[in-house]
Amino acid sequence: MAEMKHNNHPAQATIGYVVGGGLKENLNIRLTVPAQEVQEGSFIVVESSDWLFYGIATDLLLGATDPRFADEQSQQRLPPHLANLLHGQTLFTNLVMMPALMLERGPELDSPRYPAWQQAVEAGEKEEPRPLPVKTLPAHHSPARLAAREDIAQIFGNEEDKANFVIGSTREQDHPVCLNLEKLIQRSAGVFGATGTGKSFLTRILLAGLISHDRASVLVYDMHNEYGLDDTASDTGQNVIGLRTGFGRSKVQLAGLGRDASIRGTSPDFSLVFSYSDITPEDIELLTRELNLRETTPATLEALVHSFSLSGWFKAFKEMKTDEAVDEDREPGSMPGSVSQWALENGVNEMAAKALHTKLKRLFNKDYLVDQPPRDAYQELIEALKKGKHIVLSFGKYDSDLDYLLVSNLLTRKIRAAWEEMTNNFRAGKGNEPRQLVIVVEEAHKLLNREMASQTTFSTIAREMRKYYVTLLVIDQRPSRIYDEVMSQLGTRICGWLGDDDDISAVLSGLGGREALRGMLARLQPKEEVLLLGWGVPMPILVRSRRYDADFWKTIRSAKGDDFDLEKSVNTLWPG
Ligand SMILES: Nc1ncnc2c1ncn2[C@@H]1O[C@H](COP(=O)(O)OP(=O)(O)O)[C@@H](O)[C@H]1O
Ligand SMILES: [Mg+2]
Repeated sequence: MAEMKHNNHPAQATIGYVVGGGLKENLNIRLTVPAQEVQEGSFIVVESSDWLFYGIATDLLLGATDPRFADEQSQQRLPPHLANLLHGQTLFTNLVMMPALMLERGPELDSPRYPAWQQAVEAGEKEEPRPLPVKTLPAHHSPARLAAREDIAQIFGNEEDKANFVIGSTREQDHPVCLNLEKLIQRSAGVFGATGTGKSFLTRILLAGLISHDRASVLVYDMHNEYGLDDTASDTGQNVIGLRTGFGRSKVQLAGLGRDASIRGTSPDFSLVFSYSDITPEDIELLTRELNLRETTPATLEALVHSFSLSGWFKAFKEMKTDEAVDEDREPGSMPGSVSQWALENGVNEMAAKALHTKLKRLFNKDYLVDQPPRDAYQELIEALKKGKHIVLSFGKYDSDLDYLLVSNLLTRKIRAAWEEMTNNFRAGKGNEPRQLVIVVEEAHKLLNREMASQTTFSTIAREMRKYYVTLLVIDQRPSRIYDEVMSQLGTRICGWLGDDDDISAVLSGLGGREALRGMLARLQPKEEVLLLGWGVPMPILVRSRRYDADFWKTIRSAKGDDFDLEKSVNTLWPG
């Protein structure tokens, strides 16, 4: 075949040839090999004169030159050799390919046109060939083949490049597929899939890649205590190495909530506490659903701030007494220091104030909220992130949604302020360029749902913090519950199997080729297989996730070369 002569596109057996289609309706490829040799999701290359066309197989169709041949079982009517001959001529399988990119490879090496083409490229008269969004079509009967390792590297980047990180491999032929980490951190990204599809494992892999690449600091809101210390896989019972174990304390630090925080018996590097004065009315309003707050709450909060100042209201309210007996005729001043007294004196609805006080008791007793923090723990944490450390914040025993929402919002607000200040200083020529920061949120819909999206710092980050060097990595099993404006901002999307139509639509929002991709998402393997999508990848591709095991850590370790003795810890964790 002609393509064998091309320098960087080695021989791969032809699987068929183009018989029709268009840019809008995908390409039809008549298969010349048994249909079982190709599967939905395969990466296909079509060669047409000077151009290569790349795409994925999105469907397979049985066809016949005349429906009668398909309807009749001719092998029962004809001798076998005749039946085979007839089938070969009349029955076929078409592969539907969604074309995504095209690349000008130039004329054949031995073609008389080649030297002129080569010269034009070298002289800069012709652009250096690079993959472009597909804008035209291959000719009729152009040969199609499965992608070779080099094709995948051509499009998704080479493993040798430090910014490229192997996230998995192609399903049929196991060619490595890279994700460009520089691109990944430029915009917020997401990892989706139903429960048990491998999101947490894949996120560990991604984070290990990011930490080892060392271009961004990572802060993980680890709601289920999965990422810092070692965990046990729920299905296999095996030990799962945590990022702290893998990278050591010099890189990955642990934060816990409350003064005497302890995470699985280990005391964290940071014990995170917040001062009463940190809590704003907005923080409380975010908890409307968790605390079952009434519509009167904002007015009461406003009055509290008016009475006691923004930094003083929470403490003052906490310290007010609640008097059980409500005396309709009592005089102002008869119940000093009580909620009722304050309400009366300030023209606030007394029942509303008392109800709010009762509901906020759930917060008044949190031991990560204190009057006088021993030191600004979160300030130290922010400093560590600025210096390039990575932090896993474990929620430990505080694993309720209430704690997750309150703490992640409080801390993220402080971080946002710090990064905005750094960026503004940097732009004014007064400081260093801020360190890129990736904030990782599990169960993202809890923070980024439609009701909450207008209020949380997280949605601001998803929408505009790119300018300020902060992006999100959201992980979720119900992407349809994430506000669509946030979803459409996500650059790279890594998506495992999803059963729900709304979830599938949410993941595909704002992307081209949705119909074809929709079917692929619904038919992914239930585990450890993902579709890479979105702006952060050159084109959609189906990937079998990289294994997260001792070998993975050995590879990461050898790429890193610091003095942490991972070898030893891996051997104790995976003996033999
Ligand atoms: N990349 C992987 N390497 C090794 N095992 C994996 C991988 N992905 C998933 N698994 C297996 O699948 C199980 C479920 O994965 P997990 O990441 O916990 O799912 P999710 O977070 O989506 O609910 C894990 O306990 C593990 O045994
Ligand atoms: Mg998980």
